[in-house]
Amino acid sequence: MTMRKVVSVVGAGNVGEHVASLLAIKGFADVRIFDIPRRDGDKVFEPVKGKALDLKQMVAAMDIDTKIEGFTVSPDGNGYEPIVDSDIVVITAGFPRKPGMSREDLLEANIKIISTIISKVRQYAPNAILIVVTNPVDIMTYVAYRLSGFPPTRVIGMAGVLDSARFKTFIAEELRVSPKDIHAYVIGGHGDEMVPLVSISNVGGIPLKDLIPKEKIQEIIHRTRFGGGEIVNLMGTSAYYAPAAAVVDMVEALVTNSRRILPCSVYLDGEAGEYYEVKGFCVGVPVKLGANGVEEIIKVPMIEEEREMWRRSVESVRKGVELAEVMIGEKSVHR
Ligand code: NAI
Ligand code: 2OP
Repeated sequence: MTMRKVVSVVGAGNVGEHVASLLAIKGFADVRIFDIPRRDGDKVFEPVKGKALDLKQMVAAMDIDTKIEGFTVSPDGNGYEPIVDSDIVVITAGFPRKPGMSREDLLEANIKIISTIISKVRQYAPNAILIVVTNPVDIMTYVAYRLSGFPPTRVIGMAGVLDSARFKTFIAEELRVSPKDIHAYVIGGHGDEMVPLVSISNVGGIPLKDLIPKEKIQEIIHRTRFGGGEIVNLMGTSAYYAPAAAVVDMVEALVTNSRRILPCSVYLDGEAGEYYEVKGFCVGVPVKLGANGVEEIIKVPMIEEEREMWRRSVESVRKGVELAEVMIGEKSVHR
């Protein structure tokens, strides 16, 4: 009998709880969710246990048999024993952006949170594949890589799937076609300099540049780059439905060993690093995802204009990595 895989989600806030809910409905893995308690005066709430119970009742109502459990942990790392032997750990713990905040503003606070979580994953689930969502995500993925000591194939940041979904949404609306028939990739750092790859994007096999006038493509690129901010300005907090769906797309590729090619933030070094002009940090590129994590880094062709955008995006990630280096200092396992 094959056991169902276990996916743990640390941080059952907006993104984490929607990841758990989608995983519960899809049913290809059992789900454990972890979060800290919430205090209100003298009263201590354990929302994560309530969310797990609610999700359990949701699957019962839907005739699905996914197992879901919720666990309260402390910010200093108590209570993580049930994460033991998880196959995949999704990290969605941390602060989201508020209006006017950049992703980099979140850096210091979220490094603290992620450091504790990583030390517990190392202790209890040393063979897990990590999916990092917490922002600034390329830098947090690098921090997770450095602090976990895991091989680069098992530390993967989520952003490109989300950014590509935004790009596809706007193309689909413009052309009045199904997003299913659009192949469009966004690579680079998950920031305002991200790189929508127009030169290889197509709709039903027809190049995007033959379908949409140049100025309109520029508008779509701009809206994609600022797609996260557009939602922050409308909701007062950041997006969660599409981010959660993007995480679940990645989890599904890993759990089912599908070898899908998805843009993800991964550690670049060696030959792939040379192609992408990145030495020793994490940026979004198309990768093949299978049972072992990142099975191949795809060297996607870029025209000169895209290569220039790519360099700018990489440079902004590199600056964040430098700041993070100072903050993690001696705690690094990978040198
Ligand atoms: P949220 O505030 O709704 O949820 C965060 C959760 O983390 C809360 O439930 C909080 O209690 C929990 N948490 C805080 N400290 C913790 C600790 N020490 N241990 C365990 N749990 C802890 O935020 P939301 O909207 O779910 O976003 C989560 C993170 O994901 C943010 O950093 C956000 O910027 C990022 N994000 C990244 C995206 C991407 O494309 N990579 C997309 C969307 C969000
Ligand atoms: C987004 O792009 C907040 O990074 C998140 O929606």
